[in-house]
Amino acid sequence: LVAMLLNPEVLRKAQEEIDRVVGRTRQPDFGDMESLPYMDALCKEILRWRPIGPLGVAHSNIVEDVYEGMYIPAGSKVYANIELMSKDPMAYPNPEEFRPERWLGPDPAPAFPGAFGFGRRQCPGKHI
Ligand code: HEM
Repeated sequence: LVAMLLNPEVLRKAQEEIDRVVGRTRQPDFGDMESLPYMDALCKEILRWRPIGPLGVAHSNIVEDVYEGMYIPAGSKVYANIELMSKDPMAYPNPEEFRPERWLGPDPAPAFPGAFGFGRRQCPGKHI
């Protein structure tokens, strides 16, 4: 909602696509997905711009580890800084800008699956 209020031009484009592809007499379904590239890009941008769980949930390492010179004892609580990754200016130039177009065209932004966490405990709802 905030993204749409702050970016009325994005809202206008998304509404135009939904009206054109789906119309106003039925709900969208998975069969529409390929025909809704702007909506697809918009959802990706929402998950990148403001990840719902910016730090995911706590994980714990079974064995000790060293990461970039830092010793992490076994049994530590480990949080992934998801929002830092989603705001990486090398991957997503001008990262605070809400711009679905970065996911479209011949040279789209690199995928950002991090919003759903990592590894075996990754969010099983991501497909929904
Ligand atoms: C945009 C929507 C969603 C986002 C951004 C999201 C994000 C996340 C994140 C970051 C985690 C933690 C993963 C980790 O430990 O690394 C998680 C876990 C989980 N999510 Fe989601 N989620 C979403 C929707 C859903 C939906 C729709 C469902 C169920 C229908 C769901 C069910 C779960 C469950 C059960 C876990 C715990 C998995 C485990 O600990 O083994 N999520 N989600």
